[in-house]
Amino acid sequence: MASMQDKQTQTVQTTWSGRFDEPVADLVKRFTASVGFDQRLALFDIQGSLAHAQMLAACDIINMQDLNDIRRGMGVIENEILCGEFEWLLDLEDVHLNIEKRLTTLVGDAGKRLHTGRSRNDQVATDVRLYLRHAIDELQLLIKALQTALVDLAAVHTQTIMPGFTHLQVAQPVSFGHHLMAYYEMLKRDADRLGDCRKRVNRLPLGAAALAGTSYPIKREYVAELLGFDGVCENSLDAVSDRDFAIEFTAAAALIMTHLSRLSEELILWMSPRFGFIDIADRFCTGSSIMPQKKNPDVPELVRGKTGRVNGNLVSLLTLMKGQPLAYNKDNQEDKEPLFDTVDTLMITLRIYADMMGGITVKPEAMRTAALQGYATATDLADYLVKKGLPFRDAHEAVALAVRFAEKRGCDLAELKLEELKQFSALIAEDIYAVLTLEGSLAARNHIGGTAPAQVEAAIARARKALADGR
Ligand code: ARG
Repeated sequence: MASMQDKQTQTVQTTWSGRFDEPVADLVKRFTASVGFDQRLALFDIQGSLAHAQMLAACDIINMQDLNDIRRGMGVIENEILCGEFEWLLDLEDVHLNIEKRLTTLVGDAGKRLHTGRSRNDQVATDVRLYLRHAIDELQLLIKALQTALVDLAAVHTQTIMPGFTHLQVAQPVSFGHHLMAYYEMLKRDADRLGDCRKRVNRLPLGAAALAGTSYPIKREYVAELLGFDGVCENSLDAVSDRDFAIEFTAAAALIMTHLSRLSEELILWMSPRFGFIDIADRFCTGSSIMPQKKNPDVPELVRGKTGRVNGNLVSLLTLMKGQPLAYNKDNQEDKEPLFDTVDTLMITLRIYADMMGGITVKPEAMRTAALQGYATATDLADYLVKKGLPFRDAHEAVALAVRFAEKRGCDLAELKLEELKQFSALIAEDIYAVLTLEGSLAARNHIGGTAPAQVEAAIARARKALADGR
């Protein structure tokens, strides 16, 4: 922006200068301009303008010559933008006025006719929706790629046993594959949420003009169809003013980041030598400038950190909206940076994450050793007693005493002799030892959603089918 500001010594005549006695102060120009960040909407702005112009011609509001001139000029502009040759001027405030002015320079009066029956208010709302629809479609693919990476890793580890935790205390054994599939499920809901949000994004504001609609005989449905919208926004005041679709998207994004933040927290813990469950490939880690032995999980740490930033964007957008009376207010210009930042953060995070999950080394022995500590199969002993007729609460008490006994001995339940175990319930017999193994514990949880290897394999098969079907 600095270089752009320096270039703006000449005062470009602004579109609305006829109404004013003095030019806008330089500082105010800088304060109110959005071209530094809304340039990103340029190609969507052109797409929207071309559809608008086509409708104006179809409705005899402009003639075919004008339409052809507009198309030719926009072709030149698009090319200039893509080659980085387009000169963005701060004096022209935003992406819309920059493009319109350039069009008029290139094609004359036809450029000045483009804005007939339109306002920047419905124009910007349309641009943002086109941008966001495109972003959602890309994000859906990135989520899918990450889900595929998770499923691929899970498929190798349906029999790799680790401790499952509650309160970060060893609770019951689960397979590493089952654990990973939990994140597949979260991401599935995340993708659904984006798809749901897309339906509400995909409505056309154009035609609402400044706020009340326009006196020209326009055809809004035709523009909607040209731009691939599912329909039009049905109230002009609402069309130009609400940004709920952006808020909704950012809320969905915050949830995706929250899920990835949780996974990040686990990766960080698992990579710590105290756990030693996994290793993350070197290309995703950094060293320390002072401690030569360090290998730090910077990527997951940053994902955890960037989640705060996306949550912040959500709060920014909610706060931006809450005090605004109908209809459009300049406040809404502030919707773009949080929205763009959310999209950028999410895109790079998902992209890196899919790669990173593919580069994880699993250490099954360390997982197994941890699962053997902490009496992870105590619930299985209780369930065993219940199946032999003891009420669950009594079984729970008996096992609690057995755990205390083993703890004093410094051994696992499976290491106690049969006579020792029998002190806690006469129902315990030789067959208890199969129940107390990690494999037995896993295999016993054999219902949909359970950690038994057969169930996790079935979950993986369902996931693969859903991914292939694009669900
Ligand atoms: N740059 C503005 C925005 O982002 C475009 C709309 C301006 N409309 C207006 N009446 N000032 O919202």
